[in-house]
Amino acid sequence: CGIVGYVGQRSALDVVMGGLRRLEYRGYDSGGVALVHEGTIVSAKKAGKLVNLDAELEARPLPVAHTGIGHTRWATHGAPNDRNAHPHLDQTGRIAVVHNGIIENFATLRAALEASGHELLSETDTEIVAHLLHDELEHTDDLPEAVRAVCRKLEGAFTLVICDAAKPDVVVGARRNSPLVVGRGDGENFLGSDVAAFIEFTRDAIELGQDQVVTITPDDIVVTDFDGNPAETKEYHVDWDVSAAEKGGYDWFMLKEIAEQPQAVADTLLGRHSADGRLQLDEMRLSDSELRDVDRIIIVACGTAAYAGLVAKYAIEHWTRIPCEVELASEFRYRDPIIDRSTLVVSISQSGETMDTLMAVRYARQQKARVLSICNTNGSTIPRESDAVIYTHAGPEIAVASTKGFLAQIVACYLLALYLAQVKGTKYGDEISDIIADIQQIPAAVQRMLDDGDQMRKLAADLAGSRSILFLGRHAGYPVALEGALKLKELAYIHAEGFAAGELKHGPIALIEEGLPVFVVVPPKGRDQLQEKTVSSIQEIRARGARTIVLAEDGDEDVVPYADHLVRLPKVPTLLQPLVAVVPLQIFASEFASVLGHDVDQPRNLAKSVTVE
Ligand code: G6P
Repeated sequence: CGIVGYVGQRSALDVVMGGLRRLEYRGYDSGGVALVHEGTIVSAKKAGKLVNLDAELEARPLPVAHTGIGHTRWATHGAPNDRNAHPHLDQTGRIAVVHNGIIENFATLRAALEASGHELLSETDTEIVAHLLHDELEHTDDLPEAVRAVCRKLEGAFTLVICDAAKPDVVVGARRNSPLVVGRGDGENFLGSDVAAFIEFTRDAIELGQDQVVTITPDDIVVTDFDGNPAETKEYHVDWDVSAAEKGGYDWFMLKEIAEQPQAVADTLLGRHSADGRLQLDEMRLSDSELRDVDRIIIVACGTAAYAGLVAKYAIEHWTRIPCEVELASEFRYRDPIIDRSTLVVSISQSGETMDTLMAVRYARQQKARVLSICNTNGSTIPRESDAVIYTHAGPEIAVASTKGFLAQIVACYLLALYLAQVKGTKYGDEISDIIADIQQIPAAVQRMLDDGDQMRKLAADLAGSRSILFLGRHAGYPVALEGALKLKELAYIHAEGFAAGELKHGPIALIEEGLPVFVVVPPKGRDQLQEKTVSSIQEIRARGARTIVLAEDGDEDVVPYADHLVRLPKVPTLLQPLVAVVPLQIFASEFASVLGHDVDQPRNLAKSVTVE
């Protein structure tokens, strides 16, 4: 998750460890370094925080060297332990590799390597790169060329940084769908997953483009595409301070994480469906026959994760025809729920440590239910205690209020739903491929909501005097309303409530008074008159004085006369609309809080993961 590379005159270990420390903010579960010293690679790696690596380096010091790479890891393939920590070496110990991202075709590549006699020591997708490089270097002595050849074989998202025992003063980096920046020094050069890695030494940076390979030596930086053609790069000067650099130039981690949502969605999909339309959730650990027995699903979760579950319920029931309920984890085990061997309890938790959710998981297993966890933190308690797990690949989330975790949770639930549909035969290959293709459009749709963010920022500044704001939604838009309200409560400390639009007339409409801001998420046209019914709700509240902020898809002209503010959403299928509609609500809440002068990342009284019941 954090990457540093260095060539120059300084102690590479000091530079790399310093860089890793500045990247610590990204969150990680293990760390490691490799140096090129007198024709060999020397390395150290350790699970846990960097203090563990410091202790290891103290106990077994590495010799002084001037070329090195380092890494802090956020586990995707394989548990966070010493063995899976980076760097990974090939079997001769000549090549050391660190990697961020997900190599989609690693299982195939690994099988081929093992068949040709390679012995792999870790469970990571990264280690194969060291072995593939070893094989390439049998035919060529040109390290960048070997790296390019390997990159051409890889699918997915990766940033790779590599050093070679035979090549002192050279570090090679490569990127596809995952960031890598170069720092230009004087007689020294740097690589980093972001500029925070080297900001102490240089502020002259080069941003690499997609599918590029960079070779740094103390006096030179050479960038090519994956075929070896010279490539264009963008040079820039970093004028952020260190704290802004950590947040990628944003004022708050939450804003950075909101902006990372297209990537979080894309990464959660990576490697999980093949061209023939079949889904593969290899890591999940429940057999198809066990899944065929499932006759009921109960989702348990807390806070935002519970709202992800509420969104998912619509898709799960629609696609699988398996009844699905969503229950707050803190309520679940106290109501004597009816569960047995054929119940699939799905827990959703970003951190994997939320005590209420963990207790619900333990209870469900005692009652003999099968438990599948959707989790963002590899090796955390909840997935360890579950029968099965699907990891969301949102990357570490630091802001207390969950954003990219939420989107990734919904996507993972959808993958589960489609997998169940595949196993149960309620959906066939083509239909599944079509839905996956629709989900693959979501990163671009979310990006558009981010690009349109100014509208929400202006509105937040405008409404910052409000003491109460309501949110309405219908169908899958209902949990979006709940989440929009929760974000505002968490961050802005004002009264905010989400309601099902149809329920308005049964009570909440009494709250409507002159000038009360009300957000309404309008479903796409076409399904069950949902859109028409929601438009009626907007008319009703507007007639009573509400100030309406309407989120409606492109081309929906029916809402125009009743919208004081109109937020346009890209056209997406009804069940996917929550993934785009929630984004402006996240931006609104964060901006509202920052206008009020609140700490957006750490709201009062809240904790990122609540480890008490
Ligand atoms: C806390 C956080 C929320 C989060 C909830 C569940 O209450 O403040 O933002 O949604 O925990 O967290 P989890 O890690 O289980 O998803």
